[in-house]
Amino acid sequence: MKEKFYITTPIYYVNADPHIGHAYTQVAVDALCRYHRMLGHEVFFLTGSDEHGEKIEEASLKAGFQKGEEKRFVDTIVSNFKDVWKKLDISYDNFIRTTDARHKKVVQDFLRKMKEKDDIYQGEYNGWFCTPCETFWTDTQAEDELCPECKRPLERLKEKNYFFRMSKYQKWLVDYINDNPEFVMPDFRKNEVLGFLKEGLNDLCISRPKERMSWGIELPFDEDYVVYVWFDALINYASGFNKEHSSDKFWPADFHMIAKDILRHHAVYWPIMLKSVGMEMPKTVFAHGWWKMGDQKMSKSRGNVANPVELVEKYGVDALRYFLLKAISLGLDGSFSEDALVGIYNCDLANDLGNLLNRTLTMVEKYFDAEAPEAPEDPVDPEQAKRSDGLRDAVIKLFPRIKECLLTPKLLTKEALEEIMSVVGKANKYIEESAPWKYAKEDNIEAIKLILADLLEVLRVTAIASAPFIPLTAQKMWEQLGLSGNLVEAVNVEELTGEKDPLNWRKFPQGTKVSKGDPLFPRIL
Ligand code: MSP
Repeated sequence: MKEKFYITTPIYYVNADPHIGHAYTQVAVDALCRYHRMLGHEVFFLTGSDEHGEKIEEASLKAGFQKGEEKRFVDTIVSNFKDVWKKLDISYDNFIRTTDARHKKVVQDFLRKMKEKDDIYQGEYNGWFCTPCETFWTDTQAEDELCPECKRPLERLKEKNYFFRMSKYQKWLVDYINDNPEFVMPDFRKNEVLGFLKEGLNDLCISRPKERMSWGIELPFDEDYVVYVWFDALINYASGFNKEHSSDKFWPADFHMIAKDILRHHAVYWPIMLKSVGMEMPKTVFAHGWWKMGDQKMSKSRGNVANPVELVEKYGVDALRYFLLKAISLGLDGSFSEDALVGIYNCDLANDLGNLLNRTLTMVEKYFDAEAPEAPEDPVDPEQAKRSDGLRDAVIKLFPRIKECLLTPKLLTKEALEEIMSVVGKANKYIEESAPWKYAKEDNIEAIKLILADLLEVLRVTAIASAPFIPLTAQKMWEQLGLSGNLVEAVNVEELTGEKDPLNWRKFPQGTKVSKGDPLFPRIL
């Protein structure tokens, strides 16, 4: 049976268009999915939109829609999100909307089960609420009446509501997190969650009286209330995980990718909700860091955002994807700047990767009439043979290294790209040190054959290794190398995993006609 891999992104609030922060989560998940697909795994990639709650209701009114017309408002924003994901080459399998009928039904089923279990009761909520974060805070947390998360003013709420008995599960959750070290990643986030749990867990207010806020899913046991938006949203992972909605082979989720701002919802509320209804736990909740502008979080409500579509139009989709994944280690924060993007573009993509392809193909055209040469069996000269062996040793380690980076819950995407670039750098150095032009002057054609056979092999391996991250570029490389068909379909899984033949070397088909095209990444001046 094929291994399954079910991965999710947060479902985004559709109160404004997506920015680089959202694009980041999408690109990271997309790269991981593409890698799993190349390994032959059965992947299900779920993304979507979070469409209920006060925040959306407010945005709809602000955009000129009447009360009751929220669905028309969210429809316009959802289609923008889908367009942006298309431009970023995001290969999701399903886009769940919390206004979908099926989702509503699953949410109500959850609530019914919880109520039957006596995990939901009625009481009075008297505390603080942050509308931009859609989050409740206690008196002690709400220092100076400001949201501890976003530092904006809080609203005081005192009303009759329904509560979810989270406190009952506190001990269970602490034990669960301690017994499952890969449940919350990276490690330092796990400690954060355990620290939060030490403070004690309050029951969660999970309803809103309709008379105050009606844009939500109705409680199945009280028509005067709608469900708190987070309770509704988290259940998307259970309502949207199968295209046909008929089989649960993907459950539980292998990976919930989120950013650190919504860690508590995913590492505390969500597992307790699942425990209450008797469902299996997700394997890993991974919280990445924030993209900031200066030292502030980039956010829609602050308006300090970078627009992914403009950047794609200016630099190309793969330049943006590459930058997002290479500039910071997944898990840490980073400051966004277009100068940094241009810097990484010129250095890694134009000078190193693009240049390696271009100069290699130029030489294959010049010396071998564009036909891939066969490496000579006997060493041409001891020095050159040594250099060639050195390059081979670096190349054969590449796929195993990428596997170590991507098939760990540590998810080392930046490090995987560094591995690829290190091989590219070695290949460029190999050209300098081997100086094929000198051999040309001496008419030592065997030596040039060796060099170019090696370089073509590096490029073949590099194209495969970079395909999850920069899929369009990898395919372009494949085509310029003269390799036929779709790169991903041509990938040999055993080669990728190193299981049968760990020696990825000299697999480039000799005699292939290469066809040099436009530079992959023209230098930006
Ligand atoms: N709707 C909730 C999520 C519900 S999931 C069951 C929500 N939506 S959001 O629109 O605010 O998106 C939050 C997510 O967007 C973050 O978890 C992260 O994935 C991404 N990001 C938004 N801003 C970001 C940055 N500035 N930097 C990095 N990621 C960011 O919360």
